[in-house]
Amino acid sequence: MPQTDVVIVGSGIAALAVAYYICEELNVVMLTKGRVQDGNSAMAQGGIAGALAKEDSWRLHGEDTVLAGDGHTDREAAMQLAKEGKELLLHLLQDGLPADRDVDGSLKLGMEGAHRLHRIVHSGGDESGRMTVQFLLEKIRHKVKIIEHTMVTEILVENGVCYGVRTLGRDGRHAELTAGAVVLAAGGCGKLYAHTSNHPSSTGDGPALAYRAGARLADMEFVQFHPTMLVKDGHVKGLISEAVRGEGAFLQDSSGERIMEKAHPLKDLAPRDIVSREIFRRLQAGESTFLNIRSIRSFDKRFPGIASLCRNHGISLEHGLIPVKPGMHFFMGGVKTGSRGQTSLRRLYAAGESACTGVHGANRLASNSLLEGLVFGRRIAAELKNVKQAEKTSVPGRTLIKAYSVSRLELEEMMEAYAGIERSGEGLRRLTDWFRSLTYREADSGSLTWEEIELSNMVTAAGMIAFSALEREESRGGHYRSDFPVKREEWLRKEIIWERVKKRL
Ligand code: SIN
Repeated sequence: MPQTDVVIVGSGIAALAVAYYICEELNVVMLTKGRVQDGNSAMAQGGIAGALAKEDSWRLHGEDTVLAGDGHTDREAAMQLAKEGKELLLHLLQDGLPADRDVDGSLKLGMEGAHRLHRIVHSGGDESGRMTVQFLLEKIRHKVKIIEHTMVTEILVENGVCYGVRTLGRDGRHAELTAGAVVLAAGGCGKLYAHTSNHPSSTGDGPALAYRAGARLADMEFVQFHPTMLVKDGHVKGLISEAVRGEGAFLQDSSGERIMEKAHPLKDLAPRDIVSREIFRRLQAGESTFLNIRSIRSFDKRFPGIASLCRNHGISLEHGLIPVKPGMHFFMGGVKTGSRGQTSLRRLYAAGESACTGVHGANRLASNSLLEGLVFGRRIAAELKNVKQAEKTSVPGRTLIKAYSVSRLELEEMMEAYAGIERSGEGLRRLTDWFRSLTYREADSGSLTWEEIELSNMVTAAGMIAFSALEREESRGGHYRSDFPVKREEWLRKEIIWERVKKRL
């Protein structure tokens, strides 16, 4: 059976960062469901947050991260993220990370919601994710074995120690690979919802794989809805970066009234959960909401990707109004990790959107996701330097996986309706009853198709979100309950650990 030192599941920024820091010393196999450059990281428009301005400091960045997290952030972890992030960004910039600069060579730092200063390093205007992914990919491409169009179906674990993965290729072939360690960086859960900015591959694979392997998961109720997605005929067509509001755009209704004026002291740059709810309520009341971009000069030059997104969907920028609505954007919960990316299973690490590191709390600060991937990717790499090759050469029988007979569309609509921006006990009970009523058969992972396994991952991850959201009887960050509309002291810093919820079901 093929063996390697390290298997990395996923090919986003966290996966690439791990590879970047270990590929000279260890044999690395990177497995990805699509093409290596696909996924949410490459689609990121905003950039990477870092306290690089003269008047800024990592402490201020850390404080903004904590504030955005609405009382649920691991303060120490957030401060460390900001501190290490600054140093790491400077190192990457020296190594050639592309970044937009002024004519004098100084970095053009962007502004985004809930940041008190300009601190977003961006490249290509709104092409930051794609250019960062490309940069890291070029560094590792010839040093890492990259296997595309391959999903991981199982994480192999014996006596609490992870030693490899089982895979399924798009060609239908199942395989096994043993390793000294596995890094789960399989991305987020956007496709569990009808309206999302996420890449189609974001089907909750990270949490579902970790769940099946027996790893600890936490904070599954915390989902971030981004306020501004381009909407056409009721459907989301893509993201309109918060950086657009950072450059002076504002939200208005069809009568021209500025909708964030009285909603929060930071107005259009309030934390995402607050802006999203404000827009959501207007839409529920039958209004339309727009991003007014009239004050932004040379919009096409600053935001080339967004300009072409709008034009491709027949939205003329000449009028200066972009129709927007909120949608699922980021998942704060996931595989519970320590400060070095370690999970509850030895030799299994998690990073990026699959992980719950505690730095985002109940609501992630803008442009902290690429940063988190880089920082935790480097920390995991440091841990892996001592990794030993897997000793196992044989693997046990396959795990049974539940194959559901539900449609993806129905799942997305149920999640959107009952586990979306505004939740209620009644709605969540309806949703959790629906999950309980789903019929399934249990089958050997080797006998299931790609679609069956992906759907199983979606149902698993969505179910954990729904049951956890029902459990948290308060409103905090991305989790808003209309029947418990405020934060409650008894829930302060209280984590919902999925295995404990499960025991009560
Ligand atoms: C955005 O550009 O608005 C998204 C960036 C992020 O999610 O941090």
